[in-house]
Amino acid sequence: MSEPHVSDRVLIFDTTLRDGEQSPGATLNENEKIEIARQLVRLGVDIMEAGFPIASVGDYEAVKRIAIEVGPLGQDRPYGSPVIAGLARANRADIDRAYDAVRHAPRHRIHTFLASSDIHLKHKLQISREQCVAQVRDMVAYAASLCPDVEFSPEDAGRSDPEFLFIVLRAAIEAGATTLNVPDTVGYTTPAEYGALFRAIRENVPGADKIVLSAHCHNDLGLATANTLAAIQNGVRQVEVTINGIGERAGNTSLEEVVMALHTRPNVFGVTTGIDTTQIYRTSRLVSHYTGVPIQPNKAIVGANAFAHEAGIHQDGMLKHHLTYEIMRPETVGVSQTRLVLGKHSGRHAFGKRLEELGYNLSREEAQKAFERFKDLCDKKKDVTDRDIEALIMDEVFQPPAYWHLDQLHIHSGFPGIPTATVRLTGPSGEERTEAAMGTGPVDAAYKAVDRIIGVPNRLLEFNINAITAGIDAMAEVSVRVEGEGPDGRRAVFNGHGAETDTLVAATKAYLAALNKLVAARDQAAHRAPPVEAGVGNGRTLRD
Ligand code: KIV
Ligand code: ZN
Repeated sequence: MSEPHVSDRVLIFDTTLRDGEQSPGATLNENEKIEIARQLVRLGVDIMEAGFPIASVGDYEAVKRIAIEVGPLGQDRPYGSPVIAGLARANRADIDRAYDAVRHAPRHRIHTFLASSDIHLKHKLQISREQCVAQVRDMVAYAASLCPDVEFSPEDAGRSDPEFLFIVLRAAIEAGATTLNVPDTVGYTTPAEYGALFRAIRENVPGADKIVLSAHCHNDLGLATANTLAAIQNGVRQVEVTINGIGERAGNTSLEEVVMALHTRPNVFGVTTGIDTTQIYRTSRLVSHYTGVPIQPNKAIVGANAFAHEAGIHQDGMLKHHLTYEIMRPETVGVSQTRLVLGKHSGRHAFGKRLEELGYNLSREEAQKAFERFKDLCDKKKDVTDRDIEALIMDEVFQPPAYWHLDQLHIHSGFPGIPTATVRLTGPSGEERTEAAMGTGPVDAAYKAVDRIIGVPNRLLEFNINAITAGIDAMAEVSVRVEGEGPDGRRAVFNGHGAETDTLVAATKAYLAALNKLVAARDQAAHRAPPVEAGVGNGRTLRD
């Protein structure tokens, strides 16, 4: 329920690129972060936490590039361009680094944090409560001296002594914080407790009515969305969320769940957001594609089954009226319901129009490449659906700049017999290389042949395969995760993705995409690229 003295708009603070990237295995390179950030602008987020700049040179560079390239976008949105935030622990070095990265955005924020629970103070920070309050006061004041927009988070607030929490929050407000975020860092609270905590903060912290209160929940007990909604019902007007709910351990609150709950039940919540809900599905697919974190089929709002009706009674009801079993229309979140779209006889114009309807705004060159792939697909598959087109765009357009291209793949496999693969690749300077290898199966043989050509040490961690649509001619979508040496010399994980009607080609392309990222990271480390100037990217970007 909205309350009289608080606004009826909830600010959406997206932390996919910071807390979301802390998801196990979800590494994103700089270009992928830029693509996601651009899509977050289209989605309509108010604040985007672009990263933790002190964490690594790569993080700092990515936040800075987002501030420069993405910060000015979206000025024509109803609420203007997004605020770009950078995370910092409550110390000067972190705050300086965060400020230096975000200050290039027209609207920027420093988000600083210090734990307030006795567990963290005693075991992690080894400081007293008094020292904690003094540090919060000093560091929030320092951040405010650099930047007018400062957010403070008492980490592990959900398990902090509320009386002490009030003291910490009061100190932060007095020192100049403009947003107070109250994280349930370990996903411990219940909706009633978390909601009551905000009520108590508003009653006991002087100045709480002058700043924005924010909720930040983790999903360890599966309560993140419920807790965030309870917080909104108790006066919170900023929610920290991630796409697909990715994040540390069991993840963060999912953006799409909160936004659609507010959208679908206006009488219960009485608040709005600036989100363009029709961009939800695309954003979800893009984040899953780049992070390599799959979306569970029964995931609310964006899962493959979220709008599927299986039971006969349900199908019958749906045929009579969609309201019988549907509380949201799939189109509202950007899920297209068109089944048969295009085929062999569809021309460039029809294809381009369908791309537009699906929300893709591609450059001429990207559209041309996509059209060629579409025609190729029509030769192999009778009916091309929207899902096929999406997979094709992800595969053709949203790929890392390729060092190595797949030219030819021949596989011999059978029973009995020894699976053998011959692979021909074109390399970075146009050289053609062919190798053959035997393996335990056809995929293993193809990967061994690729390894012989590229010669970069790596370990295959994960291999996933999915049929995009039903039917024997369905496209296969393969995602792989490989481990290798990252830009800073440490082990890092790289994701790759391939979609083709031929499963083995999809698998080989996915592996190659992951290895291309690995090679790019090693190259980047060897000659660290000069700082990127405004508007200049070193990879392909979508036009806005
Ligand atoms: O979960 C948490 O406490 C955080 C803070 C850094 C805001 O992510
Ligand atoms: Zn968190």
